[in-house]
Amino acid sequence: MTDKPRRFLPLLGHSGGNRDAMTCLYRCGNACDHPAPNESGNAYLGDVVSSELSRRGVLRAGAVGGMVLGFGGAVAAATPAMAATPEALIPESLSHRPTRAGALTFETVAPNTRDAVTIPAGYKTSVVIRWGDPVVAGAPAFDLHHQSAARQSLQFGYNNDFVGVVPLPGRDDRALLVVNHEYTNEELMFPGFTSLDALTVEQIETAIAAHGLSVVEIERVGRTGQWKPVKSRHLPYNRRITALATRFRLTGPAAGTAALKTAADPRGTTVIGTLNNCSGGVTPWGTVLSGEENFNQYFVGADSAPEADKVRLARYGIPTTSRYPSGSRKWDRAQERFDLAKHPNEANRFGWIVEVDPSDPDAAPRKHTAMGRLKHEGANVIVARNGHVVAYMGDDERFEYLYKFVSEKKYLPGHSHLARKHNLTLLESGTLYVAKVTGDSPASEIDGTGQLPSDGRFDGKGQWIKLVSGNRSFVPGMTAAEVLTFTRQAGDAVGATKMDRPEDVQPSLRTGKIYAAMTNNTNRGVGANAPVDEANPRVANKHGHIFEITEDRGDHTGTTFRWQLPIVCGDPAAADTYFGGYDKSAVSPISCPDNVAFDSAGNLWISTDGTPSTLKTNDGLFAVPVEGREKGHLKQFLTVPVGAETCGPFITADDRSVFTAVQHPGEITGATVDKPASVWPDGDYAKPAVIVTWRGDGGPVGS
Ligand code: FEO
Ligand code: CA
Ligand code: CA
Repeated sequence: MTDKPRRFLPLLGHSGGNRDAMTCLYRCGNACDHPAPNESGNAYLGDVVSSELSRRGVLRAGAVGGMVLGFGGAVAAATPAMAATPEALIPESLSHRPTRAGALTFETVAPNTRDAVTIPAGYKTSVVIRWGDPVVAGAPAFDLHHQSAARQSLQFGYNNDFVGVVPLPGRDDRALLVVNHEYTNEELMFPGFTSLDALTVEQIETAIAAHGLSVVEIERVGRTGQWKPVKSRHLPYNRRITALATRFRLTGPAAGTAALKTAADPRGTTVIGTLNNCSGGVTPWGTVLSGEENFNQYFVGADSAPEADKVRLARYGIPTTSRYPSGSRKWDRAQERFDLAKHPNEANRFGWIVEVDPSDPDAAPRKHTAMGRLKHEGANVIVARNGHVVAYMGDDERFEYLYKFVSEKKYLPGHSHLARKHNLTLLESGTLYVAKVTGDSPASEIDGTGQLPSDGRFDGKGQWIKLVSGNRSFVPGMTAAEVLTFTRQAGDAVGATKMDRPEDVQPSLRTGKIYAAMTNNTNRGVGANAPVDEANPRVANKHGHIFEITEDRGDHTGTTFRWQLPIVCGDPAAADTYFGGYDKSAVSPISCPDNVAFDSAGNLWISTDGTPSTLKTNDGLFAVPVEGREKGHLKQFLTVPVGAETCGPFITADDRSVFTAVQHPGEITGATVDKPASVWPDGDYAKPAVIVTWRGDGGPVGS
């Protein structure tokens, strides 16, 4: 593969934020054009200095309850091959498991601008499935010039983001690949594209059908780390979940309440479709969670919504001053429900955590109101020592908050029908918290440049503030249903801490610490926006950072924690970056951390979204040890093609396969499917695809 010069196409008008203008338009409906929706006067932590700094409360690393995410668990030593079921991967206890701190063994991939996937020497990579490939048995082959909503509803959707791999019982060579399709690039999908306004209704419906999720049965190729879709006339698990037609059941305290009722659903319990599914997680009971993120962009007519609803709509980034805000997809042309002038509650039915049971293709997917309504990046769960299930979640917008959900019921281990039935209800009731954090260094030492304070760390402590528990609200003036449906306002009311765009949040199963990606926030400390604080310490933070949480006493159900920033991203040669104290001359540049995952050795894997704008190179996937002597030694594992962002990632428990989603390849301003900026993966035009990467000699990918 040879280097291809990157094509620079003429700019459109939009220039806000960190991203290509096309990304801004299609991904978030030009969110950066609008003020950040959080106008609350919440305290920031820069002016709060803790006088109670003590290391006494530091968690005894490892003294935590166990849980695992699909194959990605801390159990490789016990299960050299893939385990039979997700439950089988749950260790009885993590407390006796040593943290492996070995160096990462792969050769660092250099930053580049190639229109290709670049991997370390000695590794192999292949496309597992791409946009348009058949999913449901009998689906038609992809035909760019004859796409329709009906065809797309049977084929792999667009812009794959989250990737989960759920083992099939009793097999280490079969699994279910579950993938989110976050959004669509109509200019890269429809030949002859001129503008969103010129799309036919059939094309709009095709785009709606390209949103959602796919469930695809995959099989191992020989004994390698490669996987491919099972080809058969009988594919009982394969399934498309779309924004067009799939019925979702609302669960939890807000289900059936007034703000969720519409003319089409007067009971407020059933929603058609899921929107802008970004990241997610695999639960210990084998289901997949998926976050509904920038759902705001699909709605129009908020200017004519009832006055009483406008503040709430605006708080979720739905402009209320014009019928068609900048970046609007105008889906009301295909489905009237997207017109808030006529159906003001429809927007309230998106922004939830969705749970899909890939092993039961007949089960309706659910939207869990108990987990709150935000621009959910995703959710990842850990089973706490006391048996309750804890989900960590980010709200991905500038100056939004970090959340956690603690289930009311306890996880039931085992494989019985009873246990499974019980565990499927865990996310339907519980307690929702939002994070408030303080720094331990004087505000005067947090000067916005990224220079470490005199204690050598950006760190401090935090509190989980209870918002709602079951049907009981802890937010004055809001009912439980209101707290759950308008969770951002609840966070405002209790003084939650404004963060630099909280993306994916993932607990480490080796240490119990939790890692959250703060992707960037170029408005931090700029103008009238919230100033820097120790947890968000750089003005106009364009490269982002990693936020590490250590729950006090190792109790994931508790309400206090300590935190630090183990990585402050950017060019390691720059003074404002930090890599856990590791020699910066040996680490890879990284910018805009987005999705995070762990391998079984406890290395943190980070995919990025935004490097083309900030470092002028392609986005990539990185791994970094977070404990031991190699802590902070971050290395780039792969890079994705021109215009793409790196999503997933998912590392199997045997550490032999790294699944990565290549999202929006060729998303460069001015590019179209007729005049593509990327021709990955097939040499004709760009197609989002899930890839798998493995070591040629069959060894583990990390350390
Ligand atoms: Fe869809 Fe927050 O990235
Ligand atoms: Ca400090
Ligand atoms: Ca993301």
